[in-house]
Amino acid sequence: MTTIEDIAIRKVFDSRGNPTVEVEVATPMGLGRCSAPSGASTGKHEVMSLPAEGVDGAIEFFRENVVKELLGMSGLDQTIIDKTLHEIDGTEDFSRMGGNVAYVTSIAIARATASDLGIPLSSYLGGCFSLKIPLPLGNVIGGGKHAYGGTSIQEFLIFSEADNIYKSIEANALIHKKVGEHLKESVGTVGRGDEGAWVAPIKDEEALAVLRESCSEIEEGRNVRTHLGIDMAASELFKDGRYEYRNVKRDRDEQIEFVKSLIKDYSLSYVEDPLEEEDFEGFAELTHSLGEETIICGDDLYTTNAKRLKKGVEAGACNGIIIKVNQVGTLTDAFETVDFAKRNGYSIVVSHRSGETPDDSLAQIALAFGADLIKCGVMGGERVAKLNELIRMGEIFG
Ligand code: PGA
Ligand code: ZN
Repeated sequence: MTTIEDIAIRKVFDSRGNPTVEVEVATPMGLGRCSAPSGASTGKHEVMSLPAEGVDGAIEFFRENVVKELLGMSGLDQTIIDKTLHEIDGTEDFSRMGGNVAYVTSIAIARATASDLGIPLSSYLGGCFSLKIPLPLGNVIGGGKHAYGGTSIQEFLIFSEADNIYKSIEANALIHKKVGEHLKESVGTVGRGDEGAWVAPIKDEEALAVLRESCSEIEEGRNVRTHLGIDMAASELFKDGRYEYRNVKRDRDEQIEFVKSLIKDYSLSYVEDPLEEEDFEGFAELTHSLGEETIICGDDLYTTNAKRLKKGVEAGACNGIIIKVNQVGTLTDAFETVDFAKRNGYSIVVSHRSGETPDDSLAQIALAFGADLIKCGVMGGERVAKLNELIRMGEIFG
């Protein structure tokens, strides 16, 4: 049972229309498939998503070197499978196989095994007792590297506490609609970015103001509590030692003060990557001065890497971490990071990438990892695929 009997790779498309890899695995009674997302504002310390030869080179490498090693292995040996992927690749950063190939292989095997056992992926990976449904964190207004002509800050986010997961998702969707109406009235021309968030030529503070107003309107008469957040993706703003916004440049101290003022003025519950990806001390200063009210979350700072997280924990940086499995390659690597983060009191935020596919395994992984939040957008088929899977899981574990 659960022996890997067949394994295949193919080229498919992501939400940006770029080719990506998909792996399909068969066990005697199970079938598992996974396709890979891709980032635009990637962190410096992520593994290489693809080898230098691109998707075609990755597929060739897989067929020549990976398939024969995995055939016949038991799908139940996830850690051994993930270790084998590292050994076949032989580099520190998956630069021969491609981290995205390791990612889809690791997840497709776990899925095939769960399906063989007849249980959800989340139960297979996470056990059956402690599963809780994470709250969806979604991008409503966007800019930075995800859109042209938008805000300097990459993402203006919300999450909503409600009676159940359906109502939380519904509140996010209503806020997204409401913000769109306000922007059309005030700016006229609005578009949508890579993650389905609104893009408009407005200032960062204006984006927060319209988001706050829309949240209050949606809260009224409903049993919903909304929270505001931002992903500054500050490494993308950082040039020659300063943070370059559309109309202003800020040095490090000014950036820290700016972040603090945004948190205070707009009661932000969530701030991701407020500083560039090497400034552990700056992250520590912010975390220390803000207390537990606000999640200071490391994405590019940590790149889901346990060694980077250890450095951050020692420095006192952050109280939350973004988990993107394809930043490190395999489920086992990501799990080690999650485990260490939890033992150090961090909030866990399992996240999509800006380029996605309709693959819905993210929802299952967020459940399995005991995530507090799942960051996967609000609108667009490739985002809604994950949200709808959460609703299904809510019927079992909600
Ligand atoms: P990505 O980043 O474009 O690399 O997916 C999104 C994010 O910064 O959270
Ligand atoms: Zn981010």
